[in-house]
Amino acid sequence: MSKHFILNTGAQIPAIGFGTGTALFKKDATALVRLAIENGITHLDGAQMYDNEGTLGAGVKASGKPRSELFITTKIFTLAPGQTITESLKASLARFGFDYVDLFLIHDPTKAPAGELGKWWAGMEEVYHAGLAKAIGVSNFQVEHINEILQTAKVVPAANQIEFHPYVWKAAEPIVKLCKEKGILIESYGGLTPIVRAPGGPLDPVLENIRSRLEKTDGIPVSAGQVLSKWILQKDAVVVTTSTKAERIQEFLVVENVSDLTQEELQAIDDAGSKLHKRVFMHHAFKD
Ligand SMILES: NC(=O)c1ccc[n+]([C@@H]2O[C@H](COP(=O)([O-])OP(=O)(O)OC[C@H]3O[C@@H](n4cnc5c(N)ncnc54)[C@H](OP(=O)(O)O)[C@@H]3O)[C@@H](O)[C@H]2O)c1
Repeated sequence: MSKHFILNTGAQIPAIGFGTGTALFKKDATALVRLAIENGITHLDGAQMYDNEGTLGAGVKASGKPRSELFITTKIFTLAPGQTITESLKASLARFGFDYVDLFLIHDPTKAPAGELGKWWAGMEEVYHAGLAKAIGVSNFQVEHINEILQTAKVVPAANQIEFHPYVWKAAEPIVKLCKEKGILIESYGGLTPIVRAPGGPLDPVLENIRSRLEKTDGIPVSAGQVLSKWILQKDAVVVTTSTKAERIQEFLVVENVSDLTQEELQAIDDAGSKLHKRVFMHHAFKD
């Protein structure tokens, strides 16, 4: 079995997830989901807000892969007036053509009406107990949001999916620390930001040194993106990434064949990353 983490439910979550937001936002995901699965992806990250749950489900069907061999996430964004969380997830499941999701997340804490995050979490617990979601969690939650739901929670969130890469490492430290203490797994999105959205920064020479050291040590091609993925995985976080290209999807997965970064290399990335703060997503929800 490929690398995975264990959620606080005891279930396994594959360490590399393929996202259907960003590049596939509001687009037909059928072909790329199928391509990703055919290239070895078993973990798919969707959301109601991406407006493509139906085509994510179609891509799964087209791949021929049994549902039971896949880990599928979706996220609730907003509730229509009078709608319950259960009704909202059932609508997602109907779009997917699935009976359950493996992980259901609250996408953005600022979308719950003020003071109602705890009530939303109680609704999440209902879908968990009903078996419609095998695990429940959150996304873009800061310390205050986690603390707010934990006041009344009976089920501790299994995961918090946040923007997480070296250029937000310093800002993310308090939420990462709290999640670790509570047994909430961090899922990283936007992890390739230092090379894709902020090239030319203080991390570039550090990544290049490590990349070339690994290439020599392992005797296989190693990319800067793989070095970033190793850093994320060695921080005990899931990598949620995406690509439109089969070769890049394979590159994500073979990261498991790349040797671990040394403590000195991890520290060098932390240090260089701390010199630049660059947050790309959800500014309103996950403040600087
Ligand atoms: N919970 C949330 O609020 C939230 C927010 C954002 C994202 N997400 C989830 O996370 C998923 C991944 O997000 P992300 O797109 O930000 O992930 P990412 O891993 O930071 O970036 C992936 C993008 O980088 C490009 N890329 C990869 N390697 C590259 C390279 N060497 N040079 C140039 N471009 C390269 C890929 O394009 P190619 O097609 O060219 O490979 C792809 O578009 C989303 O699809 C979504 O499921 C969640």
